[in-house]
Amino acid sequence: MEGIRGNHSFTIDAAALAERLAAHQDILIDIGTGDGRYVRHVARTCPPCFAIGVDACRENLRDVSRTSPDNALYLIASAQALPRELYGLATRFTINFPWGSLMSGLLDGDPALLDGLGAIARPGAALDVRLNGVALEAAGWSLERGGEQARRMLRDGGFVVAPPQPLSAQALRACPTTWAKRLAFGRDPRALYLRARRPDARRSRSDQPLVAARSFAEFT
Ligand SMILES: C[S@@+](CC[C@H](N)C(=O)[O-])C[C@H]1O[C@@H](n2cnc3c(N)ncnc32)[C@H](O)[C@@H]1O
Repeated sequence: MEGIRGNHSFTIDAAALAERLAAHQDILIDIGTGDGRYVRHVARTCPPCFAIGVDACRENLRDVSRTSPDNALYLIASAQALPRELYGLATRFTINFPWGSLMSGLLDGDPALLDGLGAIARPGAALDVRLNGVALEAAGWSLERGGEQARRMLRDGGFVVAPPQPLSAQALRACPTTWAKRLAFGRDPRALYLRARRPDARRSRSDQPLVAARSFAEFT
């Protein structure tokens, strides 16, 4: 798979990745990471974590990847064709303010996307999705209906998903992604938060809290 750091692209295989992950138990994968700011924030504020940002577009990743610590990695890949090297790695993952085919894949329940998300998750992995009201409207969905649709598709894809919650302007300001800030300080800050989890088949249902013990909220 292809990694990027600054202007430099490189190939990283499963063995090299395993070496980098060896000392880290908690692995975040941020899908549609944009400029990678969220991944850099997690890597800087949580040294025991390893944070991986994935985006189809390389241009926006150059600056932040250059200044990220060693426990961050940026990969160029489509969310609909996630590299096999990531399978079974994520203890937590995020989709923050998707647009384009990432948004439509989520709303249409694209099997290539949902199967890939399931494949990269460890049992019990937490998934946080944040949806931008303007992007939902551009895709033909109201905030409420779009949130419910994304929830339905994630459930069909095998996730346990809590009802969508509105994200206040204050929550957006506190969320360390570029698009959260754009929304928070823009004209239309409507946004939703969906908290989900990949069930852990090894544990009984009653043992499984919907919210992972350490949620992403602690990074914001
Ligand atoms: C609105 S930006 C959000 C970026 C970042 N998550 C943030 O919160 O600042 C949406 C990102 O999704 C990426 N994206 C859209 N479709 C994608 C796909 N199918 N696979 C991977 N990335 C995709 C775009 O390249 C873009 O960087």
